[in-house]
Amino acid sequence: MARVVALVGSKGGSGKSTAAHLIAHGCGSLPRPVPAVVLTTDPEERPRTDRRRYFVGDGRTAERLLAEMRRWLAVERVLVVVDGAAARADLDRLVSEVADIAVLPFRPAAHDAERARDNLARLPNAWALPMDWPRHPGTARRARRWLEGIPEERLLPPFPHLPRLDGFMSEDGYLAAAYEVASPARGLALEVLARAGVDPDELSQR
Ligand SMILES: Nc1ncnc2c1ncn2[C@@H]1O[C@H](COP(=O)(O)OP(=O)(O)O)[C@@H](O)[C@H]1O
Ligand SMILES: [Mg+2]
Repeated sequence: MARVVALVGSKGGSGKSTAAHLIAHGCGSLPRPVPAVVLTTDPEERPRTDRRRYFVGDGRTAERLLAEMRRWLAVERVLVVVDGAAARADLDRLVSEVADIAVLPFRPAAHDAERARDNLARLPNAWALPMDWPRHPGTARRARRWLEGIPEERLLPPFPHLPRLDGFMSEDGYLAAAYEVASPARGLALEVLARAGVDPDELSQR
């Protein structure tokens, strides 16, 4: 049975698309790859179908999203990664309810952490993902306070700032970063699948 991960949170620039593509890239970079598809819902984003270790589908209108969901949910072994819900809070709740897990990225800033906490209360099944997190000891120490208000049982490990991720959505940028990013992306994918209660072997081709 296909499984679904939804990237949620209405704030733009919180890292939803980056996390969606990382999870799919991580799945495609496992020793036994898990087929994955990212469904783009942002009308501003052009879905890329270039040489990636995963598929990309166009869900930029409600009709397209529904059609893509129908198509991919009929596939036995695939992870469907829904990238946002077109910045609509109502859709975002609906999507997180049908998903096996909802992931809510937030950046290291007071307002973002506060919003993540509110969204966690509103969205069932959601886990907060500290995104673009500092690694330098001094900055990391200061960033720790943004994690304090998030319940530990709904917090994923922070994903670090990786300079290479800047161009990940473009074809050239993807190819340049694919190798370097594979290891942290695998780690993220495995954390998310574990939280969703999904065994990757259940989805990999045998
Ligand atoms: N871990 C990270 N390391 C480096 N840059 C990041 C990271 N996470 C997000 N970014 C950058 O932040 C910006 C916004 O992220 P994006 O995924 O497009 O947000 P959203 O889809 O929520 O609007 C992008 O330029 C992306 O490259
Ligand atoms: Mg986006």
